[in-house]
Amino acid sequence: MSMPGNRDPFAAYICDETALDVLRPVVIELGWQPEKCNKGGLRNAVQSLSVSASPNILMVDLSESGDPLNDINALAEVCEPGTVVIAIGQVNDVRLYRDLLGSGINDYLLKPLSASVLRDSLNAAQQVFAAPRGVESDAVKRHISTAIIGTRGGVGASTLATSLAWHYSADKKMPTALLDLDVHFGTGALTLDLEPGRGLTDAIDNPSRIDGLFIERAMIRANDNLAILSAEAPINSPLMTDGAAFLQLQEEFRHAFEMTLVDLPRNMLINFPHVLNDVNIAVVVCEMTLASARDTIRVLSWLKANAGHVTPMVVANKVQAGTAEISKADFEASIERKIDVSIPLDQKAASIAAKLGKTFVDANGSSKVSGGIKQVASKIIGLGDTEGEDGAEAGGGKKSLFDLKGLMAKKDKADA
Ligand SMILES: Nc1ncnc2c1ncn2[C@@H]1O[C@H](COP(=O)(O)OP(=O)(O)O)[C@@H](O)[C@H]1O
Ligand SMILES: [Mg+2]
Repeated sequence: MSMPGNRDPFAAYICDETALDVLRPVVIELGWQPEKCNKGGLRNAVQSLSVSASPNILMVDLSESGDPLNDINALAEVCEPGTVVIAIGQVNDVRLYRDLLGSGINDYLLKPLSASVLRDSLNAAQQVFAAPRGVESDAVKRHISTAIIGTRGGVGASTLATSLAWHYSADKKMPTALLDLDVHFGTGALTLDLEPGRGLTDAIDNPSRIDGLFIERAMIRANDNLAILSAEAPINSPLMTDGAAFLQLQEEFRHAFEMTLVDLPRNMLINFPHVLNDVNIAVVVCEMTLASARDTIRVLSWLKANAGHVTPMVVANKVQAGTAEISKADFEASIERKIDVSIPLDQKAASIAAKLGKTFVDANGSSKVSGGIKQVASKIIGLGDTEGEDGAEAGGGKKSLFDLKGLMAKKDKADA
């Protein structure tokens, strides 16, 4: 990420007060200083940039310029390379627009300005500025994004998410990100005995600020290879977001890490179905209960209908021989596929992990639970390598004892 030290992120030179009044709030929204919105046009920009460092993004008003193209060339001479320039004017002329783009301008906005047009243009400019240029762009790195979805609260989805993240980062030395989307009650940081900080909350409040630098600053480090974004958002007000931040974060993770793990509470699927847009694998965590079987069916069918690109994997946790509500065979029959990995219940190991403030695999390296978690980890890598092929879809044929599908069909009809 190139970010030369003494350059401002943004500056504008605008001729009239009306345009400045529209611009300033947008600039503040993007986290920049409103003082950088200067009164004056292209000529003032050329003057001040000839004696100072160029900003990353420069907005210039051409309204008072008699010969915009010529003046833009003068600007180019004093601007440092890499500056992204947005021009503003009152001449609605396609030829001028094209010529300006040809001379290296990134965008041309017509007056009167609107906040939404400014916002879009500035966001696009940020992306252009952050994009790797020319030779420095390295080959596309391999990246696997996995969402861990608990079919019920308490099945151990977060335990699995933190342990997988730990295993990939500490044992496999892979650069790993853990995104804890249990925004109000997340345990991603707590499990590792860390403070969640404000990173995720800031990201949700200001999705347009999310870039490589933002995630570097906002994520908390759990070890050399593991960065976490988690929150304990205030519980006295609902989450105000359209979910854009969740996508933007995952997009940035793809560039910065090899593994992304998203701890994804099931209600997030309902509210923000597009959080899975960039996800490759969904680990559906269940336990051997009737309710969990029903919800495993529902989540799997949701995935099939709404996220066909995601390869599902079913992991049963807290499995106890003999005492389960439902036997493994019945469970598999009702969900019409095999359980990919079964992880036993181990109260003692859970309590050791909690006491040490460590993830389950870190605290109990040689336990059977850790063995199961590592099996999930290898399967994820295996699936990641065969991306595009169909995930192991097994089961089928057998009739379900509980006939949960029938139950669901009836319920769906009643709901409709
Ligand atoms: N295999 C296991 N054996 C014993 N306890 C477990 C196991 N997996 C998870 N737990 C415990 O279950 C509780 C709930 O786990 P958590 O991961 O927070 O569930 P979820 O995120 O699905 O709500 C935690 O106290 C955790 O330590
Ligand atoms: Mg959880």
